[in-house]
Amino acid sequence: MYYEKISSCSTTYDGEVTIVDLRSDTLTKPTKKMKEAMYNAEVGDDVYGEDPTVKELEETAAKMVGMEAAIFVCSGTMGNLIAIMIHCNVRGSEAYCGDSAHSLLHEQCGASQVGGVSLRPLKNNADGTFDICELQSKLRKDRDHEPLSKLVIVENTINGMIIPQSWLKELVSFCKEHDLKLHMDGARLWNASVGSRQEAEEIVSGFDSVTFCLSKGLGAPVGSLLCGSKNFIAEARRIRKVLGGGMRQVGVLAAAGLVALKHIPNLVNDHKKAYVLASSINDIQSTAFSVDLSTVQTNMVFMEVDSNVIPAARFAQYMRQPDEDKVIVKCLALNDSVVRFVFYSQITENELMLAIKKITRAITKLDPKL
Ligand SMILES: Cc1ncc(COP(=O)(O)O)c(C=O)c1O
Repeated sequence: MYYEKISSCSTTYDGEVTIVDLRSDTLTKPTKKMKEAMYNAEVGDDVYGEDPTVKELEETAAKMVGMEAAIFVCSGTMGNLIAIMIHCNVRGSEAYCGDSAHSLLHEQCGASQVGGVSLRPLKNNADGTFDICELQSKLRKDRDHEPLSKLVIVENTINGMIIPQSWLKELVSFCKEHDLKLHMDGARLWNASVGSRQEAEEIVSGFDSVTFCLSKGLGAPVGSLLCGSKNFIAEARRIRKVLGGGMRQVGVLAAAGLVALKHIPNLVNDHKKAYVLASSINDIQSTAFSVDLSTVQTNMVFMEVDSNVIPAARFAQYMRQPDEDKVIVKCLALNDSVVRFVFYSQITENELMLAIKKITRAITKLDPKL
């Protein structure tokens, strides 16, 4: 039995076992600076529009993505849902997204459950894009019998990959031509920005709205920003309220968010660590465990596992057994043959090295050809 001794994400247990927790960048915990900012935050009732810290965060966020306004929401899921409900404001609307999109697979299909909007998937290509010709072929034409085509959603980054800017431009002009609104699920927009060395404003150029999260790699405990035009955000304020997302003295959270935004340039360190882990796995030259390095563009590593050698879930379990160095690595098995490792600020260089050592040792032991 272990017991938790310290409160960092990668936690030492019983003074002996070190846990390197690479399951998700949502595991970040607020830093000392964030806690100080939260303690000192000037607050008011934000439902009355009287919280100065929330206002500052919203104005800062809007400027950073080059949009007119922004609204602080409690989660990325809520930001995406509000955007869908506004852009698809007619009953019987349809929105399009990639078939591996978070909003399709991991948000309980709130679009249909709450918003009355159907989400129509388009096959995601390996680089996270989808075929614009497929989108065109799926647009509805028969007003009496079909839903109304209203919105396209793009996730960026998607599975750690940065959507190519040239494709985004093509999509923007297609949507303008076909009178479709465009929303970006930019939960990790800042990873895309840092990883591609492009301004966020440029990435979202031509989009009608974007959601980005403060609570992932940026390290804030709670919150996302939904950004768009002034009219769109006025509407968002109303919908946030009916969803139960009107928060009162929420400047305590916005204060942590303002500190989180200063963390953006440091995301590059998470990206470097992810690449080092991925390369180290490939250096083992196992045919059963490998990473497609072209997909390691930001803070995520997807390791392909030959499930005949070991199913991914068993590998993840195996990683949870302390080894001779008394190290545990937590990772996620996404299906039978893919294991995910994610990096964030609280994973140190030393923990990266411990994780590499443990993973290398495990692969060498498990792969019968090595
Ligand atoms: C791409 C993407 N979009 C949206 C979300 C939803 O964010 P939240 O967990 O804040 O609701 C997530 C969460 O992991 C995500 O990865």
